[in-house]
Amino acid sequence: MSDDIKKGLLGIVVDETEISKVMPEINSLTYRGYAAQDLCARCKFEEVAYLILNKELPNKKQLKQFEKEETKERVLSKTLINVLKQMPKKSHPMDVARTVVSVMGLEDKETKDNSSEANLRKAMRIFAKTPVALAAFYRLRKGKKIIPSKKKLTFAENFFHMCFGKVPNKEIVKAFDVSLILYAEHSFNVSTFTARTITSSLSDIHGAITGAIASLKGPLHGGANEEVMHMMKKIKKPENALKWINKALDNKDVIMGFGHRVYKSGDSRVPTMREYFGKVSKIKKDKVFEKIYEIVEKVMIKRKNIHPNVDYPTGPTYHLMGFDTDFFTPIFVISRITGWSAHIMEQHAANKLIRPLASYKGSKHRKVMQLNHR
Ligand code: CMC
Repeated sequence: MSDDIKKGLLGIVVDETEISKVMPEINSLTYRGYAAQDLCARCKFEEVAYLILNKELPNKKQLKQFEKEETKERVLSKTLINVLKQMPKKSHPMDVARTVVSVMGLEDKETKDNSSEANLRKAMRIFAKTPVALAAFYRLRKGKKIIPSKKKLTFAENFFHMCFGKVPNKEIVKAFDVSLILYAEHSFNVSTFTARTITSSLSDIHGAITGAIASLKGPLHGGANEEVMHMMKKIKKPENALKWINKALDNKDVIMGFGHRVYKSGDSRVPTMREYFGKVSKIKKDKVFEKIYEIVEKVMIKRKNIHPNVDYPTGPTYHLMGFDTDFFTPIFVISRITGWSAHIMEQHAANKLIRPLASYKGSKHRKVMQLNHR
């Protein structure tokens, strides 16, 4: 392959963005200039969602208004509830998320309006309704009744309430909120680039987010948090971890939750999420996954010099919180909707059709023979 071909767009800068900055050289990530770990320490997820969508942190009045709009939209149409009821119970919730956003696009009265004002309103509806729909599916597939959302609960609390019928203690909610903040935005990753590519043809926000969800599902991207849990369940006990990881590496397996296209010496989001994973393990009095985590991490760094990415601590944290494994990537979705929406608006504001070239390596020019001569 020619050196001119940058497979996977490796190292290629394709546009400018004001939304976030990934700085692998100093192991840092900022959202609109604020360090993600500072946002985790001082803000709740709603404030960060506001920042990503509206470019500035909200004051009290702005936050109140934002929360009022978000909680008002925590309802689903009868059509959408019927669609959810008809979905096969074995559907992967990421496919449900993709379908749900697509159906919302059919129903939204502003689907065709790509102005930034309309996109912000649509982003708010997708942001508020997607977790409600996912929590409804969480219940329906277990044969349980949908739990109506509660306006007085925060975004994170309401998701727990709608999935489980109760809200856990403050520390668990904080750990969940932190995971949402860390998952909210990460520059030109695969799903965001997908959303921007769809947008670049002047398509609409529902289509772009539907495509982004399909992209996030893959195990090399968001799907990794589920794969991490499958791996930990296979390892089962800390005593098995060393043998398991060494064998997997001898077999040249790809270990999920490790490695990153941009960060080569550690993902800036990991230390914060690792801390909250520890807190949740302590509250749940279950250190098994933490011990497995440490053993696998040690071997990966020693043998491969490959560090964990954010999906490594989020997987077992969500498990300890009680979520089904196939709901881990949908949780990523409900947070990343903010980042995707901001990128979609940024792309619309300074659009250029995304259309790269390919070097052709197929057959030479051939003559078309009539059907009866082939
Ligand atoms: N386990 C084992 N080997 C690995 C891993 C891993 N997790 N990641 C990279 N490598 C090896 C890879 O085999 C290759 O070795 P060699 O040069 O001998 O062929 C080398 O490291 C370079 O890897 P690469 O795949 O060319 O690097 P990339 O930048 O194209 O890929 C990645 C990045 C994230 C796709 C990859 O690290 C991977 O597959 N990781 C596992 C999946 C995962 O955890 N994804 C989540 C990504 S971050 C958060 C998110 O998006 O959700």
